[in-house]
Amino acid sequence: MVKHIVTLLALLLLVSGCASRSTTLYEELGGEAKINEIVENFVYEIEYNETILPYFAESDIERFITKFSEQLCVFSGGPCEYSSDTMEQVHGGMNITEADFNLTVDLFINAMNKANVPHRLQNQLINRMTHTRRQMLYL
Ligand code: HEM
Repeated sequence: MVKHIVTLLALLLLVSGCASRSTTLYEELGGEAKINEIVENFVYEIEYNETILPYFAESDIERFITKFSEQLCVFSGGPCEYSSDTMEQVHGGMNITEADFNLTVDLFINAMNKANVPHRLQNQLINRMTHTRRQMLYL
């Protein structure tokens, strides 16, 4: 009898442990492969946008891809570390206007649409990406 109770308790613990493990946004998105797809699309969007492209005139695009992907992974709760400067340090001297900030977000949304990311997940990711908006803008 005691043996059965112990087995039952062990099973209950196992089930509750599984139930409480929540899925991360990173997993819901589709992990590294989906983030790579979004970033590839985003770079393409920037490349063909004559307003935003000039901001990247002096940039090492491979580095941007690496750091930006890392950051999306961290923002979505993935198993990564972001290894660069703060958003204020990176963007502070660029004199980014509010209109250009919004346009960049639009380009990012295009990139997610082309990667078939559901809108519910798009909103969550944008929300996490734009919390440092004020520090990036030239106000
Ligand atoms: C939506 C929010 C944004 C996020 C989360 C974001 C994130 C990042 C990250 C992680 C990097 C790489 C940093 C590094 O190389 O160390 C980066 C670089 C860069 N971002 Fe943003 N960014 C955002 C908005 C913008 C906007 C609105 C612009 C311009 C209109 C912009 C222009 C740039 C440029 C030009 C670089 C390259 C900097 C360099 O070459 O040193 N970003 N961004």
